[in-house]
Amino acid sequence: QTLDMELEAIEKGGYEHFMLKEIFEQPKSIGDCMRGRLNANEGRLVLGGIREYANKLVNAERIVIVACGTSWHAGLVAEYFIEEFCRIPVEVEYASEFRYRNPIIREGDIVFAISQSGETADTLAAIELAKSKGAIIFGVCNVVGSSISRVSHEGAYTHAGPEIGVASTKAFTAQLTVLNMIALRVAHKKGTITERRYHELLVELENIPAKVEKALKLDNQIKEISETFKDARNFLYLGRGYNFPVALEGALKLKEISYIHAEGYPAAEMKHGPIALIDEEMPVVVIATRDSSYDKVVSNIQEVRARKGRVIAVVTEGDALIPQMAEFVIEVPKTDEALMPMVSVIPLQLLSYHIAVMRGCNVDQPRNLAKSVTVE
Ligand code: AGP
Repeated sequence: QTLDMELEAIEKGGYEHFMLKEIFEQPKSIGDCMRGRLNANEGRLVLGGIREYANKLVNAERIVIVACGTSWHAGLVAEYFIEEFCRIPVEVEYASEFRYRNPIIREGDIVFAISQSGETADTLAAIELAKSKGAIIFGVCNVVGSSISRVSHEGAYTHAGPEIGVASTKAFTAQLTVLNMIALRVAHKKGTITERRYHELLVELENIPAKVEKALKLDNQIKEISETFKDARNFLYLGRGYNFPVALEGALKLKEISYIHAEGYPAAEMKHGPIALIDEEMPVVVIATRDSSYDKVVSNIQEVRARKGRVIAVVTEGDALIPQMAEFVIEVPKTDEALMPMVSVIPLQLLSYHIAVMRGCNVDQPRNLAKSVTVE
């Protein structure tokens, strides 16, 4: 017993929980994911896993992404990225729904399956169905040699290292890294991205680990914010564009480890329903970094304030406007809007972690949840 506890303490590397350790590992895990694959200086981007089918990807008429939970959120970010840069239509499906609705898959269609564990039963079943209809499967898995990696035709590992905490953190940012690299490679080959933009994004991708490192310095500030909101009964998360899936991810993290009800919404959808929920007791986390939808998101913040909602805003460093409206402001480093999810998700991971700890929850093994869901 004591030996087990000592071993566990060693594995946690001085952190109180695996989740916290994994959150703090992200500068390294994102770097590991890019190692040997990306060199912005030399303009080099090689992914061993997309050789044989690279042309099929370039010529794909559409891409279907199947995944669950956090991996599904990574798929949503990838949808925006692939459509913007590769100009290939993307559909993102919950693996469980895909399986049960007789989807249209044609011979040669491309299906991306995203999974940390590579063992999720719903995702495996979706792959089998797509395969039976002649689709080509690209697996994006973290666990080497996992079932999904074995049944895929090709794929790329995320190389984030073992993720023990049930709440997925470093696997998510590594999935985004891999998916962005694949998309950039395809876009470049296809000629749907300018040389300038391509190089800009390669350089910026290489800078992400340093920016994540900087975002992790927000830990103490986020701990203080958590203290204010630890007894909330509900939370709303809003984001737009690339930050919309981040809002969903922030809400999922909070739900699963703190048991506080939370919903993620596209910011502009608020007026179509959720705005009715807002009163002086509702914390609203708004991801409002400087991007193409910034002005619109600022209006959303004003709408929340007008109804006395309590705004916690994640903004780009140096933002002068939002601090005048929001109760709490969390400043993250500036990066390209298409890569922002890897940075803007960090404070949300930390927020859910601290709130859960303050509520006395079992952060690494939340009730009713397993690390890999191997039942359908
Ligand atoms: C994430 O925090 C969850 N624990 C869960 O949603 C998870 O992402 C989902 O079960 C998918 O798992 P996978 O990536 O191993 O397939």
